Amino acid sequence: MKKRIIILSIIISLLSLYIGFLSFHNNNSKNDTYNVNKGNGLKVREKVMKKREDNKDKDKDIKEEVLARLKSEEYYIPTNLDRYLNYLENNPITDYEEVVKRVNVGIDYEFYTHRKQADYSKNTLILVNKYNYVRKSFVPDLVDIESKYTKKSAKMAKDAYPYFKEMVEMARLDGITLFNVSAYRSFETQKAIYHGYEIVDGKENADRYSARAGYSEHQTGLALDINTSSSLDHFENSLEFAWLSRNAYKYGFILRYPLGKEYLTGFKFEPWHYRYVGVDAATYIYENHITFDEYYAYFLVQNEL
Ligand code: DAL
Ligand code: ZN
Repeated sequence: MKKRIIILSIIISLLSLYIGFLSFHNNNSKNDTYNVNKGNGLKVREKVMKKREDNKDKDKDIKEEVLARLKSEEYYIPTNLDRYLNYLENNPITDYEEVVKRVNVGIDYEFYTHRKQADYSKNTLILVNKYNYVRKSFVPDLVDIESKYTKKSAKMAKDAYPYFKEMVEMARLDGITLFNVSAYRSFETQKAIYHGYEIVDGKENADRYSARAGYSEHQTGLALDINTSSSLDHFENSLEFAWLSRNAYKYGFILRYPLGKEYLTGFKFEPWHYRYVGVDAATYIYENHITFDEYYAYFLVQNEL
């Protein structure tokens, strides 16, 4: 019996020794693996961190370059920065001058969205376009246009009329005959005109050449169509148009919807449509080949922000 107990305890001791050895070996191997992985892990992590830092630096460089380029644009408006960046991100465009121009005018929003009432306090520099409307009841100070200056009875803004007359008289001296065919139009008149075009041509086409009621600068009395209002007449090929192109600004008038600027003004080329903005603004717009929308955003709004 005693002998059996001794043998059993020897077996148990041997077994526990064996188990102890096994577990020590296992632990060691695990530790080895762990250490090896730990070594590699550190390297990988370092690499990832470095790459992230590099990328951050690269992003920072790119952002700084974008900012520098935007800020160096002539018509950069600081309060529009987020919109410039947003426009760059969402449009396949790398021309920064264009981005600044477009956002300033507001075309990062669809036409006839983000609409607000025009600022009447701007007087003859009021902006009416596809984002700025005049209320239905708005009627400016008007005067009758004398019959020798108009095809049919019409009114225009009192402040602009003397300049129109002077322009017509000066043109006459150069052998050029100018006369009004459409000046002030009430909200209701504009509504009827637009509706007529909408019926025959569809809304999408009509929107390219006719303003919706409230959005026509004819309602300000500061705009008028000279000699024609039909693209079929090809007024752009006439001597009258050539004279106006060279001289209208001297009397405070601008070609409001120039060729190739539809994406900014919202309207196709209208060689007959002139807008009185005063001699200073007209001269700047003429000399710098910009639209009134651009001029207004840069010179008449941003200083108020
Ligand atoms: N034809 C111009 C855009 C107007 O309707 O006011
Ligand atoms: Zn017009």
